[in-house]
Amino acid sequence: MFAELSAIVARPPLYSRVTTPEMWADPHISAHMLAAHLDPLLDLSSYREEYLERVVAWLIDRFGLAGGRRVADFGCGPGLYTSRLARAGAAVTGLDVSSRSLGHAVSDAHREGLAIRYLHQDYLAYRDEDAAYDLVIMVMRDYSALSPDARRTLLRTVREHLAAGGAFVFDVDAAPAFAAVREQAVYAPSLMDGFWSARPYFGFHDTFRYEDERVSLDKYEIVEAGRHRTFCNWIRYFAPGELEEELLGAGFTGVEVLGDLAGAPYDSGADRFAVVATVP
Ligand SMILES: C[S@@+](CC[C@H](N)C(=O)[O-])C[C@H]1O[C@@H](n2cnc3c(N)ncnc32)[C@H](O)[C@@H]1O
Repeated sequence: MFAELSAIVARPPLYSRVTTPEMWADPHISAHMLAAHLDPLLDLSSYREEYLERVVAWLIDRFGLAGGRRVADFGCGPGLYTSRLARAGAAVTGLDVSSRSLGHAVSDAHREGLAIRYLHQDYLAYRDEDAAYDLVIMVMRDYSALSPDARRTLLRTVREHLAAGGAFVFDVDAAPAFAAVREQAVYAPSLMDGFWSARPYFGFHDTFRYEDERVSLDKYEIVEAGRHRTFCNWIRYFAPGELEEELLGAGFTGVEVLGDLAGAPYDSGADRFAVVATVP
């Protein structure tokens, strides 16, 4: 028992285990995620509605999306952005690994008669030689959840699918937010009110800081009768210069740093920021 508990709370090597797609694709977990996405007042899986509307308005204005411009939403979830951008006249593609969220997005589009192309697709493995998007968006700081290798793969994928002069717009967790991360260990039966499984379970939530790399890990060990699963949420907290270096190294030529996805000016004390990265 002591050895098992010690293993459960041990600090894993940085990025030794990545479970993001498994988490989003799990039928039980994704049902809870979808409920959080669709709550207009919550900033949990999607941003709250008031901010979301400002993001959409800014994207339409900044990138002139009304005239059939080609937009891809990487990790589109239930289609909160895809549907609004399609309504404004953009030609929209949404990619996601969660069939539950996509199911919601597809039926919404169908009901409204919106011609949105939805792909059940891991964006890290996306290849479409015919696609040339004017804009790729990735909303809700998903870039921060990726390992350095995955970020390189993602940037290559985005660049290969952008049209000449196209832009990649996304937001990230910022360095000041790392200061608020505290290492902790929490144990509870049915941790987080049954979020992780419909069956009885014991949940262990450990938070770790990786100082040198400015990364945090929230690790959830979920122990059920006959099943033990581990979920790792890594977050990299960026300074603008570090992100700029990654983008230029990946072949983007222009990088504009903003405060958020609604076009606010950059604030060096804020918990997040956004970038517009362009290709020639
Ligand atoms: C935090 S949610 C944000 C959803 C949406 N962008 C929004 O703001 O409403 C992240 C989304 O990315 C999806 N996702 C995570 N990893 C993915 C991957 N490798 N490929 C495609 N989708 C992924 C998840 O299923 C989830 O819908």
